[in-house]
Order: sequence, then structure tokens, then C-alpha cells
Amino acid sequence: MNDYQKPEIQVVVQDLVRSFGQGERAVHVLRGLDLTVRKGELVALYGPSGSGKTTLLNLIGALDRPNGGSIMVGGRDILRMGERERGNFRRKQIGFIFQNYTLIPTYTAFENVDLVLRLPGLWYFERRKRTRETLKALGLSAWANHMPDELSGGQRQRVAIARALALRPSMILADEPTSGLDTRMARGVMTLFRNIAQTQGTTFLVVSHDPMIAEYVDTAYDLNDGQLVPRLKSFQHDNMGVTNNGAKKAAGVPADAYADGD
Ligand SMILES: Nc1ncnc2c1ncn2[C@@H]1O[C@H](COP(=O)(O)OP(=O)(O)OP(=O)(O)O)[C@@H](O)[C@H]1O
Ligand SMILES: [Mg+2]
Repeated sequence: MNDYQKPEIQVVVQDLVRSFGQGERAVHVLRGLDLTVRKGELVALYGPSGSGKTTLLNLIGALDRPNGGSIMVGGRDILRMGERERGNFRRKQIGFIFQNYTLIPTYTAFENVDLVLRLPGLWYFERRKRTRETLKALGLSAWANHMPDELSGGQRQRVAIARALALRPSMILADEPTSGLDTRMARGVMTLFRNIAQTQGTTFLVVSHDPMIAEYVDTAYDLNDGQLVPRLKSFQHDNMGVTNNGAKKAAGVPADAYADGD
């Protein structure tokens, strides 16, 4: 059985190549990159600005196509999907948290979250319940009826996080989801991710520049010269079978522990 066919495997990327431009001006961003991610694994992706982190997330989320290599997600070859199938895959399986939030400016925080739940055709009351619960888990209950331009950068970023989580996709692709948050809030978001990964088996790929994120993840990589290098952590393979400190610390915290009623 190939790795990507194993039920516990969510993502298998092999020999991935992505370049932009032609000839002398060509930028070779990903150069034969490999990555395997288990279901329910929380992964951090680090790397200097311009190293290709967003490019990699876009490829795994089927928003872009590579020049070479293969990408299997949930046992399926996303490069062989037709347009329609790719669209369905993105809407139902993947929650995107984009680097620039991309909220709809004419919709309230509540409506921004509710909108993504309309796409898979969720029942009205189920949508309202999930939207309310997710906003609460991100400490945004009091801001539900505000427009994006009435929110701070960090509040907007949390709405974007809520929008991706409310869908309950099998995988979340998060591009610097805590860049606009203070440490306490950033830790709250990572604790929430940890809980969702553990209780719902959701897989998370989290791009970040913040070293604190590594405390909460199972695995951390550095994207360097177009390839991923695992970041070694002294506590990653101890005899207790505990993968890391953050995971241990975060276990058992209820999902709404972060709700702070702000
Ligand atoms: N659509 C595109 N057309 C041309 N070049 C691109 C395109 N997308 C990305 N690039 C180039 O690919 C490289 C990697 O970009 P990418 O956005 O993936 O970096 P990043 O690691 O996410 O950086 P940051 O930390 O600043 O967000 C950059 O040199 C960028 O200019
Ligand atoms: Mg980026």
C-alpha cells in the first residue's frame, strides 16, 4: 500500500516543483519538496519571507498548480481532479485562513462566517449555531454584528479564523493566522487548534514566523532553498511517547476556554 492510501495519512506531497517566470527571470520557489502529514497532525511551516510558504499552501489547497510533482490529499490526487471536482474539494474539505484575511467588507462578522456555511448547503439553524459557537470560541461574541471596518486588525483576523473553523473541514491551511494577535490571543488560537485537532481529527498546516507556535505543534519544518527541513526539538521523541510540551499542556482544555467575552 502506498503511503497516501493509508487511512491515517492526510497529505502526501512528492517532488513538488513550482517556479514563476521564464528564462533568466525565472524564480524557482519549490525545488523537489516532499511532505507527509497525518490526519489530526498539527504542523508548523517556518521559512524566511519569500521562501515559498504561501505558494506551498496554495498548491496543497488546489488554488494553484505545480510545474512538477504530486499532491495527494485524503487519498486523492488533487492534480487529476477536474475544475468542478477541485472546487468541491476546496469548499468542503479545506478551510483557508489567508494571509490578508479577505473578509467581505459589506457583511458583518456573523455574516462573513455564515456565508461559508451556505456553500455546503447547511440547514439555517445549524449554520446559526455553528457561527455563534465559533465566534464565541474566538472571543468575538460581542462583535458578531459589527462590520469588518469597525473591527481591529486582530479581531478581523479572528473572524477569518472563525470562518475557516466553522466549516469543520478535514484540513485547515492557515497562513500566519496569529500575526496580528498579542501573545495571549495567539496562544488562545493555538490552544483552540490543538483541541480541534485532537477532538475532531482536523489536520492543520500553520505558516508562521512566531517561534511560540512550535510549542503547540506536533511537527515543525523550515522551508529553505525550496525544500522542507524538519526542525528538531529535544522533547519531540522522549520515552513517554509525548510528542511535545505544548500538546501536553493544551490537552483537556475545553474548546471555548478561549472565550473571553471581549
Ligand atoms: N503568482 C506569482 N507570480 C510570480 N511570482 C510569484 C507568484 N507567487 C509567488 N511568487 C514568488 O515566489 C516566491 C515565494 O512567494 P511566497 O508568497 O510563497 O513566499 P512566503 O514564504 O509566503 O513569504 P512571506 O513570509 O513574505 O509571506 C517569491 O519570490 C514571490 O515573488
Ligand atoms: Mg506568505
